[in-house]
Amino acid sequence: MTKRFPENFLWGGATAANQYEGAYNADGKGLSVQDVTPDGGFGQITDGPTEDNLKLEGIDFYHRYKEDIKLFAEMGFKVYRTSIAWTRIFPNGDETEPNEAGLEFYDKVFDECLKYGIEPLVTLSHYETPLHLSKEYDGWTNRKLIDFFERYARTVFTRYKDKVKYWLTFNEINSVLHAPFMSGGIWTKPEDLSKQDLYQAIHHELVASAKVTKIAREINPDFEIGCMVIAMPTYPITPHPDDVVSAYHSERQNYLFSDVHVRGKYPNYAKKIFRDNNVEIEFAEGDEEILLENTVDFLSFSYYMSRVSSAHPEKYKKGRGNILGGLPNPHLESSEWGWQIDPQGLYLALNDFYDRYEIPLFIVENGLGAVDELVKDENGEWTVEDDYRIDYMNAHLQQVGRAVEDGVDIMGYTSWGCIDLVSASTAELSKRYGFIYVDRNNDGSGSFERYKKKSFNWYKEVIETNGESL
Ligand code: BG6
Repeated sequence: MTKRFPENFLWGGATAANQYEGAYNADGKGLSVQDVTPDGGFGQITDGPTEDNLKLEGIDFYHRYKEDIKLFAEMGFKVYRTSIAWTRIFPNGDETEPNEAGLEFYDKVFDECLKYGIEPLVTLSHYETPLHLSKEYDGWTNRKLIDFFERYARTVFTRYKDKVKYWLTFNEINSVLHAPFMSGGIWTKPEDLSKQDLYQAIHHELVASAKVTKIAREINPDFEIGCMVIAMPTYPITPHPDDVVSAYHSERQNYLFSDVHVRGKYPNYAKKIFRDNNVEIEFAEGDEEILLENTVDFLSFSYYMSRVSSAHPEKYKKGRGNILGGLPNPHLESSEWGWQIDPQGLYLALNDFYDRYEIPLFIVENGLGAVDELVKDENGEWTVEDDYRIDYMNAHLQQVGRAVEDGVDIMGYTSWGCIDLVSASTAELSKRYGFIYVDRNNDGSGSFERYKKKSFNWYKEVIETNGESL
């Protein structure tokens, strides 16, 4: 049988600090945008932390990281993706000196990973902009954030230079178009936010990403730096050329972000997007060179679903759950949250990105959010019979294998929420992605005990056989 996956393929799982660490104000941590959004990324913003915000306690990884990492090691993880909470290191974001207690926490987490031979893959900014930067500076609309982000990045690159090799700059950077507060810390309400300010904020993030890539290479030339985008292949709803062109334009809007990260400049079509939206990006001196000279080593992305586009969307019923918008695809099943399940979309995303850029790709999020039920197995142990999750992941990984056979260079795969955590869009705990069940409920109750689901052993075997068991 052909060995589909490369020998050094990085199998693992992914999380983000704000969705699972908890301990939201421990050891000097400041507030982030997540601490005031109890209903999730698209919901209300509260005056301060409120009891109903599940993220404040998360799944208490902050105190249970040893137990959790041990379980990841038992599954055979080669890599573990997490993020650093910016507010543990710089509680307000604009201080000049970092918070030592925050730095020590990640020392312990990374040391624990390395103890088991697990490579950390670290996102610098995963929907965790310090609240102070949001309120006082209007988040990434303000160019000053570039300096604050540089200081933060320099601090953690220096501190963990011998512990972390793989870094991502901004999680799902293209989501800022749809969730400006959660993604870009932009305090101005979406309805009052001009396209000019939104695209200027995007420019600041892109420049910041390039600047910290430069800093990273100065600190440790062996670092590998990636960008991170939402991948969502777009299908036309009919073969009518109007619909095909509409799908094409949706794809381009999405490609804008990876094009700048990989090619180091705005693509030609950006000019039209800016013109159509009355946007004129302000470039500071040196921005062009910074972008051009500091492109990424690899491109990483999340993949959950494809989407459908029409030239006349008003004629159709809207899709549910599609982060980037889009219409429902009649040929696909949906998750309980209305996210459409399309394994072949992952095959397309991998091939499209590789055709376009020919640089290594990393799938850093994929998985099924579902309601799980704890039951006793034949030995009387609590577990979850999550065959639906196994089916989902098996089908998606088959498509990854197919892309590998096509010659696409794929570094690894980290499934989203390898341990149950709080959802980003709806801030629920009942939307579970993990191989490990965490006993905590939407009302905040629960023992926080961890239990292995059926998918735990399934994934262990996938890793053990380097994908041959799929
Ligand atoms: C991605 C985010 O959009 O999707 C994660 O990077 C998020 O933070 C994941 O958790 C799944 O979305 P949700 O809303 O189901 O948690």
